[in-house]
Amino acid sequence: PEQRAAVRAVLDARSQQAGALLPILHDIQDQLGYIPADVVVDIAEALNVSRAEVHGVITYYHHFRSEPARGAVVQVCRAEACQSCGSEALWEHASKKAAGQNVTLEPVYCLGLCATAPAVQIQDKFHARVTPTKFDRLLAQLKE
Ligand code: FES
Repeated sequence: PEQRAAVRAVLDARSQQAGALLPILHDIQDQLGYIPADVVVDIAEALNVSRAEVHGVITYYHHFRSEPARGAVVQVCRAEACQSCGSEALWEHASKKAAGQNVTLEPVYCLGLCATAPAVQIQDKFHARVTPTKFDRLLAQLKE
């Protein structure tokens, strides 16, 4: 019920705007941490679009989560500048490390730190020039 009230407030504030779907999804995820399946119908009704359309947008953008995150959210940038500085190897490493730990690992496409790639965001903190070794240290710090 609390979730629904939050969603209702977002819809009331935004649904009349042009191109409201993305801002609405961002607001909901910011407030609830994810976009629960049962609010998709509310969004669709408010915007007068199909549920499939809303669902399609949620699944298309990696940013949106359909389930609550588990533990800390760890985002590894896989966009171009970071790729050219080894982020694919870092991603592989991170995937192995994150398995079985209390973290949600997600790809992200540019954190605005291209000059100091590869970049990682852990919860609300940014980390630059992240090597696998540095990554391990950051994960270890999470547990402290
Ligand atoms: Fe990774 Fe911009 S490409 S921060």
